[in-house]
Amino acid sequence: MNAVIPDTFAAWRAARQAEVEQALSRFVRADAPAGLGEAMRYAVLDGGKRLRPLLVLATCEAVGGRADAALRAACAVELIHAYSLVHDDMPCMDNDVLRRGKPTVHVRFGEAQALLAGDALQALAFELLVPGDATLPDAMSARLCRLLALAAGADGMAGGQAVDLASVGIALDRPALEAMHRRKTGALLQASVTMGAATASPAPAVQAALADYGAHLGLAFQVVDDILDVTADSATLGKTAGKDAAADKPTFVSLMGLAEAQAYADAVLAQAHAALERSGLPHTATLHALADWVGQRRS
Ligand code: IPE
Ligand code: IPE
Ligand code: MG
Ligand code: MG
Ligand code: MG
Repeated sequence: MNAVIPDTFAAWRAARQAEVEQALSRFVRADAPAGLGEAMRYAVLDGGKRLRPLLVLATCEAVGGRADAALRAACAVELIHAYSLVHDDMPCMDNDVLRRGKPTVHVRFGEAQALLAGDALQALAFELLVPGDATLPDAMSARLCRLLALAAGADGMAGGQAVDLASVGIALDRPALEAMHRRKTGALLQASVTMGAATASPAPAVQAALADYGAHLGLAFQVVDDILDVTADSATLGKTAGKDAAADKPTFVSLMGLAEAQAYADAVLAQAHAALERSGLPHTATLHALADWVGQRRS
C-alpha cells in the first residue's frame, strides 16, 4: 500500500518528463495568429506532473512498442488534458484563477482566447497522431485517434464534465459518483495506457489487463484529487484548494469522509496492481511505480 518508490523510477520520470517537455515545446508553436500561439503555449508548457504522457511511455516500454508513436501519443493526450483544464477553469465551469501555480489562461488572456486555445489544442492533439510525413502506419494512427476521441468526448471527459456541472448540490451515491469520475478523469488516464499499448500489437488478453489497470488507476486518481482538494494547500497544489466544498460538488470526501476515501483509493490502486500482474508482461516495474505515485502524490 505504501510501497517504497525506487530511485530508478525518479530518474526515469525526470528523463521522460524532460523529453515530453521538449517535444511539446516543438509541437505547440508560438506563431498561431493574434496571440493564440502564446495562449496555447502558456496552457501547456512549464507545469503539470505529465502523468498521462508518462503512462503512455511506460506502457509502450512494457509492450515493446514504437517509441516515435508513443512520444506523439504522449503529447496528444497531454494536449487534450491541458485543453480540458483551460475550459474547466473558466467562469462558466469551475471559475478558478490559479492553475499549475500561475494565473489561469482566461485570467491572463481573456475568456475568448481561452476558449479558442482549448479548441486549437484539441485539434492539434489529433494532428500529432497523423504525422504529415506519414512516418506512422495508417492503421496505428487511426487506432490512436479513435482511442483518444472516445476518451475525450461524450462518453469520456466531456460527458463526465457535463455530469459534474449537473451534479452541483446533489448528493450522488457511490455508483453515480464512480461513473462520473470514470468519465471525467478516468477515461483519459485509461486511454493513456491503451494508447501506449497500441504502439505495438499485444495479445487481446494483455490489452484487456492493461485497460483494466488504466481504469483502476484513473478512478483512484480522481479520488485522490478529491482528497487533496481538502487536505492540501493552494501553494502546494498550484490550484485553489477547498474549491469542491465551496462549490458544493459531490466528491468521494463528501460521500464517505477523508479516511474512508483514502482507504477506497488504496483499494482501487491495489486492483490496478493486480490487473498489471494479470497482464503477464515481464517489464512492468515502471507501471507499478506510477500507480504507487498516484496514491502517494501530494499535488
Ligand atoms: C488535474 O489533473 C485535473 C484532474 C483531472 C483531476 P492533474 O493533477 O494531472 O494536473 P496536472 O497536469 O499535474 O497539472
Ligand atoms: C477536472 O476535475 C477534470 C477535468 C476533466 C479537467 P476537477 O475540476 O476536480 O479538476 P481540478 O481540481 O480543477 O484540477
Ligand atoms: Mg471541474
Ligand atoms: Mg476544476
Ligand atoms: Mg479537483
